[in-house]
Amino acid sequence: EAEISAKLPLKGKKILVTAGPTYEAIDPVRFIGNHSSGKMGYDIAKTAAQMGAKVILVSGPTHLSVSDSNIETVRVISAAQMYKACHEHFGSCDAAIAAAAVADYRPKFPADQKIKKTQAEFSIELEKTVDILSSLGAVKANQFLIGFALETENEIENAEAKIRKKNLDLIVLNSLRDEGAGFGHDTNKVTFIDSGFNREVHGLKTKQEVAADIINKVIAHYA
Ligand code: CTP
Ligand code: CA
Repeated sequence: EAEISAKLPLKGKKILVTAGPTYEAIDPVRFIGNHSSGKMGYDIAKTAAQMGAKVILVSGPTHLSVSDSNIETVRVISAAQMYKACHEHFGSCDAAIAAAAVADYRPKFPADQKIKKTQAEFSIELEKTVDILSSLGAVKANQFLIGFALETENEIENAEAKIRKKNLDLIVLNSLRDEGAGFGHDTNKVTFIDSGFNREVHGLKTKQEVAADIINKVIAHYA
């Protein structure tokens, strides 16, 4: 019994994980998106499941899939759909980890029909999407809430501001400065900052290793 709980330290816990990009429709055949592969979020979901947690993986469009009896994948396309799926599950979860690269803006007036190239110049009016992580922070009870921050300047200050603004317990700051880190690579250079602004700087690691470090924080929180 003791051995089982040591091997499955998250048994009985339910964790919400967001992953991948979102696509925001311009017209029926075009969208605004980004290069997120979804790998970080999927690795987090797999690690949490291996540790015994039930996982709700809310995934934007990606080529990835995972088959694990502890993981329920909810596929969405847009930020609005991701928001809805997250709030359907957040109340029953013990922790949430927002690894998705949610679009910050979406076309304000998506066209019903394919836009024709009749105009010499053409612009698309954009409006902000809902900040899913902030909205979870605003309604959280006891959930341990983890976000990411992707910064290219004033990294620490910006990440700390996100902790406060979004009511987070931990933020994973992704440094893009270093070679081999960030989008399109399988490695990340991250700094963990907690709600007391304590920092933990990590070296270049694989996404699997970063996922394990993040899940260890959840385990330590519930230990
Ligand atoms: N996030 C979210 N919903 C959004 C935008 C971001 O849930 N509409 C989450 C991301 O999943 C990530 C965190 O917020 O965990 C930070 O994302 P980031 O892009 O670094 O910050 P933003 O708050 O979007 O601010 P900015 O892009 O201006 O730096
Ligand atoms: Ca953003």
